[in-house]
Amino acid sequence: MYLCEKIRIIYIPMLKERINNLLAEVEKFKADNAEQIEALRIKYLSKKGEISALFDEFRTVAPEQKKEVGQLLNTLKTKATDKINEIKASFADKGPVAADLDLTRTPDPIPMGTRHPISLVRNKIVDIFSRQGFVVADGPEVEDDWHVFSSLNFPPEHPARDMQDTFFITRDPDVLLRTHTSCVQTRVMEHQKPPIRVLCPGRVYRNEAISARAHCFFHQVEGLYIDKNVSFADLKQALMFFAKEMFGEETQIRLRPSYFPFTEPSAEMDISCDLCGGKGCGFCKGSGWVEILGCGMVDPNVLESCGIDSKVYSGFAFGMGVERITNLKYRVKDLRVFSENDTRFLDEFKSAY
Ligand code: PHE
Repeated sequence: MYLCEKIRIIYIPMLKERINNLLAEVEKFKADNAEQIEALRIKYLSKKGEISALFDEFRTVAPEQKKEVGQLLNTLKTKATDKINEIKASFADKGPVAADLDLTRTPDPIPMGTRHPISLVRNKIVDIFSRQGFVVADGPEVEDDWHVFSSLNFPPEHPARDMQDTFFITRDPDVLLRTHTSCVQTRVMEHQKPPIRVLCPGRVYRNEAISARAHCFFHQVEGLYIDKNVSFADLKQALMFFAKEMFGEETQIRLRPSYFPFTEPSAEMDISCDLCGGKGCGFCKGSGWVEILGCGMVDPNVLESCGIDSKVYSGFAFGMGVERITNLKYRVKDLRVFSENDTRFLDEFKSAY
């Protein structure tokens, strides 16, 4: 008993001194960022921290001393808590401190982008024909007369060669912006031996006044298939597959005779109007059909001008405007929205694929 009392007498001043030392440390608390303040909290206020340890020892303090030591300990705990909260609050006022910034985090908010409807439809067209064995071919947008016109059987006086239709970009009338992607087909035929089965997507230019229905540039996908014994029936089958895949299984097609310098016979293809199911409505102007592309059997003159023997080989070609297909698929009435980059319009395609 005596011994215990004696230990306590030695012990209490030491305990008080430790508390006072800690109080002095608390006064000097300083932190530059959230990590440092958290380290202080753990060191002093957590369950295994210094103050908690003192409270454990406090249980052994003699009853008559408890009041004084208890008050001192509570003061320490309150001061440490207040000081840590105060420093935390000062961080909040100033915003995050440099070391607190996670520079690897992506900034917020990031608006979700969309694929442009023209890209979506072009990709879909390419996908449908690639399932029939077509591969994509590419070529320049600035072309020469031979690839755009002469090789494709355009007579010298053909109106498409006129300044009214074609953009000539230098004084040299041989340098022009392609008016269709058929010139890519010429380039393929020049360098490749049949069988040829290519798809030529790309931007084309025509000197037209810009309106809801016409633009000075637009996009095409043209196709070319050359092999032995290629027939008009093959063409029709390939296009029917395309129409049904693009517009739905119930879609009907019809081919009307037409004229293109590079195909003979030539045709224009209509699909049944999917708005009225072919009955006739304002959209199809009461006919029940809407035109979507031009096509035909490659003219032997074109094959010969590209060095392909027209007695051995035959082929079909087709070409469509991507804007036209997009208008039909997504009911876009004004062509100009495709090049205005209005995000309110583009956002409508977020869920399209
Ligand atoms: N080149 C034609 C155009 O631009 C489309 C077409 C391609 C027609 C192939 C028939 C065959 O209008």
